[in-house]
Amino acid sequence: MLFLITLAKDKSMTDEQLLQQARAAAARAYAPYSRFHVGAAVESVDGEVATGANMENACYRLGLCAEQSALTAAQHAFGLDKVARIAVVGGSDATVCTPCGGCRQAILEAAQLSGHDVEILCASGDGSSVERYTIGELIPHGFGPANLAKPS
Ligand code: THU
Repeated sequence: MLFLITLAKDKSMTDEQLLQQARAAAARAYAPYSRFHVGAAVESVDGEVATGANMENACYRLGLCAEQSALTAAQHAFGLDKVARIAVVGGSDATVCTPCGGCRQAILEAAQLSGHDVEILCASGDGSSVERYTIGELIPHGFGPANLAKPS
């Protein structure tokens, strides 16, 4: 089954503006254990933006990633089915921060709900490098809501 066929068209922000929102979110991360601050900004097909950052916990395994925090905010702000693209910024050096496997799965959920591929801008914490992917590239042959039988 092929669900991720087109990218959403309406983008109101520049790449740099969306990355800036992710950077601002990273600055508000709660990451006292890893000291690795990540911010994510989710843009809707209508140009709305929801942001989130990683939030760690003394019980380490309870930590939340930035992308999932931002997707939760996006669901409440405009709905997962309206997600068009996501900017992710993390760390402090020149290494580009790409979404972890769990976050890729969460982004795939939004992509399959919306019926279009989701673009992901990944940036390094020092601002020197940006890479552009789609969720279809980052998690090919994924399993998502489209694979589940529709409830009768
Ligand atoms: N982290 C994210 O927020 N997103 C990712 O995609 C990768 C990792 C966070 C989790 C943890 O708080 C810190 O970065 C170090 O792994």
